[in-house]
Amino acid sequence: MNLKTTVAGNQFETPFLNASGIICQTQEELDSLEATKELGGIVTKSATLQPREGNEQPRYYDLAHGSINSMGLPNQGYPFYLDYVQHEHSKPTILSVAGMSAADAIELMRKVQDSDYEGLTELNLSCPNVIGHPQTAYDFEATEKILETVCSFFTKPFGVKLPPYFDLAHFDGIAKVLNKFPLTHVNTINSVGNGLVVDVDKEQVVTKAKGGFGGLGGAMVLPTALANVRALRLRLNDDIAIIGTGGVTTGADVFAHILCGADMVSVGTQVIKEGLGVYARLQKELEDIMAEKGYESLEDFRGKVKEL
Ligand code: SIN
Repeated sequence: MNLKTTVAGNQFETPFLNASGIICQTQEELDSLEATKELGGIVTKSATLQPREGNEQPRYYDLAHGSINSMGLPNQGYPFYLDYVQHEHSKPTILSVAGMSAADAIELMRKVQDSDYEGLTELNLSCPNVIGHPQTAYDFEATEKILETVCSFFTKPFGVKLPPYFDLAHFDGIAKVLNKFPLTHVNTINSVGNGLVVDVDKEQVVTKAKGGFGGLGGAMVLPTALANVRALRLRLNDDIAIIGTGGVTTGADVFAHILCGADMVSVGTQVIKEGLGVYARLQKELEDIMAEKGYESLEDFRGKVKEL
């Protein structure tokens, strides 16, 4: 069975990626991703200009149907991740970068442009957990301005990580902006921002920063993730690939992401719950579904979800 997929000419042996933020912050974690044979590529933690400790603990809480987190972009700073992706790796890398401001984002992209790295970069416009910083990609004008500036000097392949959208007018709005630029891909969705989980016994929220408001992930966000993949696939230029992220717990969920139009699929919360062994299970479950349906490659069903 052929699980190969490509994004902007970069060939991946499987469609599986780690979601940025999950087991990709340290050298040891990145090494463990490289050693996970079912992973098609490696995404780094979103790198900021300066190293960050992230938000106060507790900042992750496991839920029956997913998770809530308020990590706040803990990372070692861009030089570490830019150095990491410039080394030889057994699979393609995606360098994720996140600015604390538009100026930061632009400066980070300049650093990448000035480096020898020629692989994929992903500009994270959607972290919901940085205190005092709204998610950029909910502001279409600001997003357009950043992309205009970046595209005035950036000549390497890059895409963007988006927050979830919830209204058809917003899908139209963001697609109109993104279609103006030579993006390789969009990664959709980041966590569903600013949820609130309450421990009824303790009469208390479960994460510390932002009064307990945090990003929701895992099974409960699958329909939102699929809607964003599908809605954007219907609206974006054909040459903008889609990395579907959100809600994957089974091979059927991976199949559904691809059926809605995803070129690759990332897994976040379920890796925390189950460890990196999850990818072997997901691959087997995906292959079993494909075999049962007589599909030999991802192209046989990608984007072909039927309407009633
Ligand atoms: C975080 O808060 O560090 C995770 C969210 C993101 O990577 O955008």
